[in-house]
Amino acid sequence: MSSEESRKQVDDENEVELEDLAGIGSATAERLRRAGIKTVKDLAAFPARELEEISELSEGKAEEASRRARESVFPKVLSAKEYLEKRGSMPRLTTGCGNLDRLLCGGLEPGITELIGAYGTGKTQLCLQLCITVQLTKNRGGLGGAAFFIDTEDTFKPERLAEIAKAMGIDGGMALENVYSFRAINSDHQFEGVRIAQEYIKTKGVRLLVVDSLTAHFRNEYPGRESLVGRQQRLNSFIHQLQRTATLYDAIIVVTNQILDVPEVIPGVKPMRPAGGNVVAHGSTFRLWLERSKGMTRVSVIDSPKHPRWSTYVSLSQNGVEDAEVEEK
Ligand SMILES: Nc1ncnc2c1ncn2[C@@H]1O[C@H](COP(=O)(O)OP(=O)(O)O)[C@@H](O)[C@H]1O
Ligand SMILES: [Mg+2]
Repeated sequence: MSSEESRKQVDDENEVELEDLAGIGSATAERLRRAGIKTVKDLAAFPARELEEISELSEGKAEEASRRARESVFPKVLSAKEYLEKRGSMPRLTTGCGNLDRLLCGGLEPGITELIGAYGTGKTQLCLQLCITVQLTKNRGGLGGAAFFIDTEDTFKPERLAEIAKAMGIDGGMALENVYSFRAINSDHQFEGVRIAQEYIKTKGVRLLVVDSLTAHFRNEYPGRESLVGRQQRLNSFIHQLQRTATLYDAIIVVTNQILDVPEVIPGVKPMRPAGGNVVAHGSTFRLWLERSKGMTRVSVIDSPKHPRWSTYVSLSQNGVEDAEVEEK
């Protein structure tokens, strides 16, 4: 390996310093750091306009810094073959439930997976379970990593984590140490949670980010039709933060979403749709719909660029989310 290659490998592992980018001097780097942008990956995540707002850089300087960072992190166009090789080498995360893993063709991938369902369908249970499975070794379907849980509704329950860990045969105490929780009290705080989660991804081995729930604060803070535009803009910006996090760090992101009752058009048929409208629909990579049925939870893929639209059944128990008897495709 040439010295150039070996330096690049070190850079990949340790992240490139801001000053290593052409065109960024120490004064600019210092301004960026003051704005919380510490590495080239951080810089690549910001569109120039946002960069200008937070960093006191001039418009031209912000554009240049942003472009150079992007070029450094995403250096070239990939052929579909190269893309497949890159994606193929990305690990899947087991859900800890065979039926769900089969539904997801092996488990969760980097990107945003959205769990949509009414109250009590098991969304939070599945999120908690993933906080345990992410810690499993690779040969058990985990990523040997930690989890970061942004909790907006006070549903984060360490006791449940311990029970689920025990059912998987891993030490409860150790498992709890690798799950970081962040109680977000409003939507601003929820944005702050993602910023902190990025720090934890870089420094504490976090591979899974949970946001439970994605939409609740936005819906509460911007009620009614008259605030719809403002709410959707803000939600859109939040989802973009999540998408950037997933792309830059190959993070697996799981968000939960509520469903809304829609007025009946056909009498007797109760239509329901996920909250957040098109902004969330377009923002999530994979969408799973959870509904209670015959004492179990039926989980269906309702939107995915690659999975077939299958359904499966799971049951909720003290051990977490498990296979239910019936399986349907
Ligand atoms: N300790 C437990 N033992 C058995 N079932 C449990 C336990 N904790 C939660 N559950 C199941 O999970 C359900 C709640 O699921 P939850 O994930 O909180 O729903 P959601 O987040 O979709 O509102 C409960 O109704 C129950 O069926
Ligand atoms: Mg919940």
